[in-house]
Amino acid sequence: MPEISTIDVAGKRVFLRCDLNVPLKDGVIKDDGRIKASLPTISLLLKKGASIVIAAHLGRPKNGATPELSLAPVAQRLGELLGQEIKFTGEVTGTGVAEVADSLQPGEILLLENIRFSADETSKDEAVRSAFAQELAKLADFYVGDGFGAVHRKHASVFDLPKLLPHAAGTLVAAEVEVLKKLTQNPQRRFAVVLGGSKVSDKLGVIENLLGKVDLLAIGGGMVFTFLKAQGKEIGTSLVENEMVDVVKGLIAMAEKNDVRLLLPTDIVVAPTFAADATPTLVSADAIPSDQMGLDIGPESAAAFAAEIITCKTVFWNGPMGVFEFPNFAAGTKTVAQALTQVSGISVVGGGDSAAAVRALGFADSQFGYISTGGGASLEYLEGKELPGLKALELI
Ligand code: 3PG
Ligand code: MG
Repeated sequence: MPEISTIDVAGKRVFLRCDLNVPLKDGVIKDDGRIKASLPTISLLLKKGASIVIAAHLGRPKNGATPELSLAPVAQRLGELLGQEIKFTGEVTGTGVAEVADSLQPGEILLLENIRFSADETSKDEAVRSAFAQELAKLADFYVGDGFGAVHRKHASVFDLPKLLPHAAGTLVAAEVEVLKKLTQNPQRRFAVVLGGSKVSDKLGVIENLLGKVDLLAIGGGMVFTFLKAQGKEIGTSLVENEMVDVVKGLIAMAEKNDVRLLLPTDIVVAPTFAADATPTLVSADAIPSDQMGLDIGPESAAAFAAEIITCKTVFWNGPMGVFEFPNFAAGTKTVAQALTQVSGISVVGGGDSAAAVRALGFADSQFGYISTGGGASLEYLEGKELPGLKALELI
């Protein structure tokens, strides 16, 4: 596959798949990291004299066009960041889109509406996806895949379309893969992975895989209570996946067998309700009151996690340690983020949500070794899965 730096797309129209799935609240973009991360490839293609049709998704629309999930605010922000007009017709395909695409001059950009407004994009039926990809292929001469956050999805614009057009990986996808290779191929030791977030079930595959690779696994976030329960502790009204308790017992045993240091919190910040103004109380992880829920790891735990993290040469972190959106329950996430900034080897913050968390807590991207734009994608890469979007670009 050609490198994007060497391809000749002057005067050509490029279909560019980006991940512009940004957090939105009431139509306002809360973190534009993924838009900014998409700029280098866009600028490079424009410099080469191409015109660009950009496709991206936003959220998971279930019933076709959903006004709250329109990419219109993204078109606006992208235009501001690039300092040029972004054409946006509010459609995914159709004659309006085809006409604007055909009229694009070198240097011009058309952003398609949320590609998931067409159910064919995510169809499990290969024939349906492939027919949709044929439609999309008519819009351009060349395909560039740069939506790293979506490369784990077997979707038409990610997996099927690149088979129909000459293609290349964008600079973001190339950079992400290079970093993930450093984590998976002979990482510098000690190698630590810090996982948070709400569900063990989402991360089971990656945990199982990592237990054969890492020196240290630290667990926080909502999923920690399933671990504490597996250790026979009272967890009050904390989030728990009861059906996962036995599986987690197996993971704890596997960590011991593989000589992986498993770090679990020893103190927890609890509250009676899940609310920003709920009164926080610090308790031992052995003594969570039956009517309270854990909303953050405590300071002793956070300090212990941090002390271990800074001794490591390779650290990957995905998922907040607590409900960082509520200031009273953000300290654990902040302490862990701070520790990552002090790592002397490579520190990687994985995932759109974790990236948004560190920015919301006041950290700058430059303080970390690398901030990945892909949560699920980077976890599945670490899990050793074959990612459809990378396979289609012949990157794996
Ligand atoms: C993400 O936010 O992780 C990516 O944009 C992929 O979105 P998805 O999980 O809805 O496929
Ligand atoms: Mg996601």
